[in-house]
Amino acid sequence: MNDLSGKRILLGVSGGIAAYKLPHLVRLFKKSGAEVQVVMTKSAAMFVSPLALATLSGRAVLSEIFPNSASDQESWTNHIRLGEWADGFVLAPATANVVAKLANGFADDMLSVCFLTLRPNKPKLIFPSMDGEMFDAPAVQRNLNVLREQGCLVIEPEVGELASGLVGKGRLPEPEKIFALVCDALSPKEKTLAGKQVVVTAGATREKIDGVRFISNYSSGKMGFALAEAAAELGAETILITGKTSLPTPPNVKRIDVESAEEMFREATRYFETLDVFVAAAAVADYRPAETHQGKLKKSADALELRLVKNPDILLEFGKRKKSHQLSVGFALEIENALENARAKLAAKNCDIVALNRANEEGAGFESETNRLTLLFKDGSCEQLPLQTKREIAKEILKKASFFFRKTSLTSPER
Ligand SMILES: Cc1cc2nc3c(=O)[nH]c(=O)nc-3n(C[C@H](O)[C@H](O)[C@H](O)COP(=O)(O)O)c2cc1C
Repeated sequence: MNDLSGKRILLGVSGGIAAYKLPHLVRLFKKSGAEVQVVMTKSAAMFVSPLALATLSGRAVLSEIFPNSASDQESWTNHIRLGEWADGFVLAPATANVVAKLANGFADDMLSVCFLTLRPNKPKLIFPSMDGEMFDAPAVQRNLNVLREQGCLVIEPEVGELASGLVGKGRLPEPEKIFALVCDALSPKEKTLAGKQVVVTAGATREKIDGVRFISNYSSGKMGFALAEAAAELGAETILITGKTSLPTPPNVKRIDVESAEEMFREATRYFETLDVFVAAAAVADYRPAETHQGKLKKSADALELRLVKNPDILLEFGKRKKSHQLSVGFALEIENALENARAKLAAKNCDIVALNRANEEGAGFESETNRLTLLFKDGSCEQLPLQTKREIAKEILKKASFFFRKTSLTSPER
């Protein structure tokens, strides 16, 4: 669980449409124990209510440098006091305008002055969010680079539907993601997988029937992406080999997009020699059509028979070649005789850990944000994890992997 207890966050809000996400972000910060001071630009108030942010943060929202009256002595030095007070500065959304101002040292409102008075070495996270063309504009990119050079962490916006109605790069990440990144910056975790290479497979493969049809499954890729994100957070060099999905690439992860099981197999085998942890979270199709028709199959006969042939089993192949310093984590999706089948998989595929997923459980499964897993270990022990978000589960699994390298053997009492 991420904890921001006692952390003091200076939250800059500028006038982009994505500011509507901010009340939820403030709630997440407050719930995790942080103190939040919102400083917003005048334009931001066009997109999100200062009253809502003041109520949720429990503090008056500041915008102007000058106090309302000359007798309001308390607020004369707000701009300097807040720079000293804050443990970190978060700017979300960051408009092109505010990015330009901060990159050039402007100081004409409370937000820009606080940015300048923030104590050195305090984390500064900038979340630019704007229309795709605007984001790519050379001036915006130049200003973002200036902020990077000044030590700011600039988080790339996500690809998706934009307020303009277009689809492109420019979306502000969801509050949960911003929250997680702020937690990492303000309470950095131990990099227990630094120097290790982690390869994760994710999502569903597509097995072509013809030029327009394929066989696939309901896997969303969410579990695999969460695992890659957790591995990267723990400092691992992380490679994510994924089937088709529109999920954004987690920070510091090398992403390889593939379509079929054979392609996924080819890409994964490239790393079999060098990897330290292999996490097979993809839902790889067991079979593929024996032949792919060129163009589109015509509807003619009443029935169509498809002959399927077996796909390569990536986890099994890795299990055969695995060396003692390498760790193999598999996923088993079972309905009946779940434990028994998962144990058999662990042995047959020479895994160190198998994460058992029961397909028929509530709150678990492909599309769900949460999951309930049972972890089975090579030494015969198992551990039931509570219903958790896929992100929390991913962290739990990667933590086990870190223990493996610390102890080099998996024995239950140490876990
Ligand atoms: C409906 C609407 C949506 C806007 N959304 C954005 C946006 O997402 N990102 C951005 O950089 N500017 C956006 N703008 C332009 C900014 O509001 C404008 O540049 C403003 O001067 C920014 O002021 P500030 O940076 O002081 O908050 C939008 C403007 C309008 C009218």
